[in-house]
Amino acid sequence: MRNGKITPEGTGDLLFLECEAQNAVIGLLRGIFEKRGYREVRTPGLEFYDVFSSKAAYYRPESMYKLTDDRGRLMAVRPDSTIPIARMTATKLKGSALPIRIYYAQQVFRRQPELRGKRAEIMQMGVELIGDSSFESDVEILTAAAEALDACSPSPFRIELGHVGVFNRLISLLEADPGEKERIHGHIAAKNYAALSDVLEGAPQTDVADMLRALPRLFGGHEALEEARALFRGRDPVLPSMLAYLERVYGILRGLDLGDRVMIDFGLVNQAEYYSSLVFKGYTDFSGEAVLFGGRYDGLFKDFGEDLPATGFALHVDALAEGRLKRSSAASDSEESVVGACEPSGARELSPPGAARLRIALTKGRLEDAVVAMLARAGFDVSLLRGKGRRLLLPILGTNMEVVLAKAADVITYVEHGVCDVGVVGKDTIAERGGVYYEILDLGVGRCRFALAARADADFYGGFGTKRIATKYPNVASSWFESKGMDVEIIRIEGSVELAPLLGLADGIVDIVETGGTLRENGLAVIEDIRPVSARMIVNVASMKLKKKEIDALTADLQRVM
Ligand code: PRP
Repeated sequence: MRNGKITPEGTGDLLFLECEAQNAVIGLLRGIFEKRGYREVRTPGLEFYDVFSSKAAYYRPESMYKLTDDRGRLMAVRPDSTIPIARMTATKLKGSALPIRIYYAQQVFRRQPELRGKRAEIMQMGVELIGDSSFESDVEILTAAAEALDACSPSPFRIELGHVGVFNRLISLLEADPGEKERIHGHIAAKNYAALSDVLEGAPQTDVADMLRALPRLFGGHEALEEARALFRGRDPVLPSMLAYLERVYGILRGLDLGDRVMIDFGLVNQAEYYSSLVFKGYTDFSGEAVLFGGRYDGLFKDFGEDLPATGFALHVDALAEGRLKRSSAASDSEESVVGACEPSGARELSPPGAARLRIALTKGRLEDAVVAMLARAGFDVSLLRGKGRRLLLPILGTNMEVVLAKAADVITYVEHGVCDVGVVGKDTIAERGGVYYEILDLGVGRCRFALAARADADFYGGFGTKRIATKYPNVASSWFESKGMDVEIIRIEGSVELAPLLGLADGIVDIVETGGTLRENGLAVIEDIRPVSARMIVNVASMKLKKKEIDALTADLQRVM
């Protein structure tokens, strides 16, 4: 009965107002989808694991909840609705007249890292248009997505369009091993320009490498299309047709009164594996994550024995409902106490239209001084930051920016949830903690390195026993030893890690080394360098799209004084 009174992390009970808000969103979406001729289906919450582990390994095994039936067969709790709908359509609806228009409203379940405040149970509503590969079908899906967001979003939204075919084409032409290609994919998805450049430096310096390097920077309005046109010109026979397709879709959406709510991002590659060409996401300024995901997935049905083109999207009903609750609580003081109790932990403050305030999370301590000095050199009035006393939230006078002072790991949490738009944090914490955000700038300060160190008088690699490693960075340490194929035992230590080998608790440490003074004074020496570390500017994914102008300006200011 120990856990008998609580709900598992990432799940929770929905009480009255929350149910009402979700039902309101579901009702609105149902009306829109049915009016457009979509009919509802429901797939089982439990599926055989094989459905999700087909050729392209669409879902990582560790992100699924798995169990076995009484014959020992592996099952998965549905992590996605599109794949089961493809299974269902390829079997139950085989031979039906095409196209088939389907909508669904059901939960998906995804394992999340512990204590990150991420949902494991997500209420999604979406549509699938199956058996039509026409341009018109892409436009139909996108206009339905825009109408859905317009009806449910509590604040202005943005839809960004991308084309995964561009990345897929370029990466297929690049001469690199699969590991490098995977890293390139990750760096483009994270807009990690510096790391992308580093990996591409190891590849042949061809037009392909050049275009891949530019891809994540190609985002924004019409100018992104122009830049792409100039970049692709005369370099590849296939890319211009993809660009033309994107431009055509963009033109139609712009014409639909959506104006600058439509953006382009050629770096939009971190969608589910099954997307094949056009992809899109939707953002609103009350959620730090995208609330809408969609695109064309022409290859998925082949895994189920059919060859059908398809396109569709899903909306996060809980995020939209939370935003609407948040808005109504802001609008109604009288309801505040009741609605306030339902406020989502990750909700952002609603900013009035036109006033894009930038909140910057800055790592306290060593990095703080270096970054405040950079801000001063860039011409910002940092007097409040310098004389801050114990205050943790400080405006930069004369700007619409404010600085939040936080511990390194918390900088990432605040940025990931979107309560801060921008963060400055060391690569050591980023490497240890991971997460979803853009890592757009290496600030060049706070330079040090990760290293393996041991007692200077010991032979670390000698003997046969399993080595014990003490570290504040267990993920960094274990993945590094894994990459070396070395089996070690990791012990987590919170600080002054150098003590562990001195006291005989560990054979070595994995830690950051700046001057090397701490190691020297304690009789330790570096055995191997692992990777360099420096301060990075990270950006929330939604903020990057909603506050591009302000973030670009801050980035340029900092780059000027680096
Ligand atoms: C870091 C690191 C080393 C030291 C390295 O510790 O963990 O102990 O700095 O710097 P050096 O090479 O210039 O000597 P930090 O000061 O952050 O304290 P902690 O170990 O208590 O976390």
